[in-house]
Amino acid sequence: EKGGYEHFMLKEIFEQPRSVKDCFRGRVNADEGHLVLGGLREYLDDIAKSQRIVIVACGTSWHAGLVAEYVFEELARIPVEVEYASEFRYRNPIIKEGDVVIAISQSGETMDTLAAIELAKSKGAIILGVCNAVGSSIPRTTHAGAYTHAGPEIGVASTKAFTAQVSVLTLMAIAVARRKGILHEDTFRRFLFELERIPEKIEKVLKNAEKIKEISALFSEARNFIYLGRGLNFPVALEGALKLKEISYIHAEGYPAAEMKHGPIALIDEDMPVVFIATRDQSYEKIVSNIQEVKARKGKVIAVVTEGDKLIPTMADHVIEIPITHEVLTPLLSVIPLQLLSYHIAVMRGCNVDQPRNLAKSVTVE
Ligand code: M6R
Repeated sequence: EKGGYEHFMLKEIFEQPRSVKDCFRGRVNADEGHLVLGGLREYLDDIAKSQRIVIVACGTSWHAGLVAEYVFEELARIPVEVEYASEFRYRNPIIKEGDVVIAISQSGETMDTLAAIELAKSKGAIILGVCNAVGSSIPRTTHAGAYTHAGPEIGVASTKAFTAQVSVLTLMAIAVARRKGILHEDTFRRFLFELERIPEKIEKVLKNAEKIKEISALFSEARNFIYLGRGLNFPVALEGALKLKEISYIHAEGYPAAEMKHGPIALIDEDMPVVFIATRDQSYEKIVSNIQEVKARKGKVIAVVTEGDKLIPTMADHVIEIPITHEVLTPLLSVIPLQLLSYHIAVMRGCNVDQPRNLAKSVTVE
């Protein structure tokens, strides 16, 4: 059932070209200029009219929410707040009638997320679900939603569910922007075209698996790791750090790269591996100077860069290339090397990657 792979996690990482394609099936058609999210059709006007979107989730799903915050604000121009479900539910959150709450959950059973939904519902919000497990509790309590269609995820560390969540949320943001009439037809067409290319580009990232394994071998004894990214790659940095800590038990922190000088830079020395997600985007120049700051303090830099980057390879100790795509879609590619890095490091340390200590696949207690 592991399809020839040593672990479910590895199988699920390698399934991503297919799971993302499944997520787009029947929804995206570039030739015909179609984008359809059947489950949301009735609510598209309400979302387009809403003044505010609140996203509630936990763990990796919360990271997908942070990516969605950038995408929704950029494309649909609706303010988004991303909340840990556990924090949201125990405050007296300000939710008004007509606010849109999006709950993201792979399992659809996470207790805190369910409770956050009930609370928001009682205050008159429109509740939308982005879930993977079909027929689970969360999709049954929401008003509407879109399944991620990633297929069952067995490994405790979430991988293909994350890319599917980001995919669905991106489709939602594009659909809402279009409904609001603020997405130019050409931009819309280009998105559809780029979305359809994502599965083959993930395939291409996966071709670097051997190289990533070699890099992993050099860092399997590390005691700490820092992950840095800016913009859309900031949540990817958080996700990379979470993946590493949960399955390899190495202490890892994710930060927005510019925050480094406000504290974490004090940690940098020759024993500190720093993973930069440094793709060619608006913040490229800025992240290049962050890499210089780390190198000046003798940190070891592993950089995820855009194919063909000439500059960063002259500065970083190791580089992993990913194909170019629309900037907004970058997290779908940049997260893949980080999943593989944590997987290989955990295996090299002899950890039980599919069932890490102290963790359960779905957290149905608070
Ligand atoms: O099933 P959910 O998406 O609601 O689960 C949320 C978190 O428990 C989950 O993402 C957890 O953080 C994973 N182990 C991360 O890999």
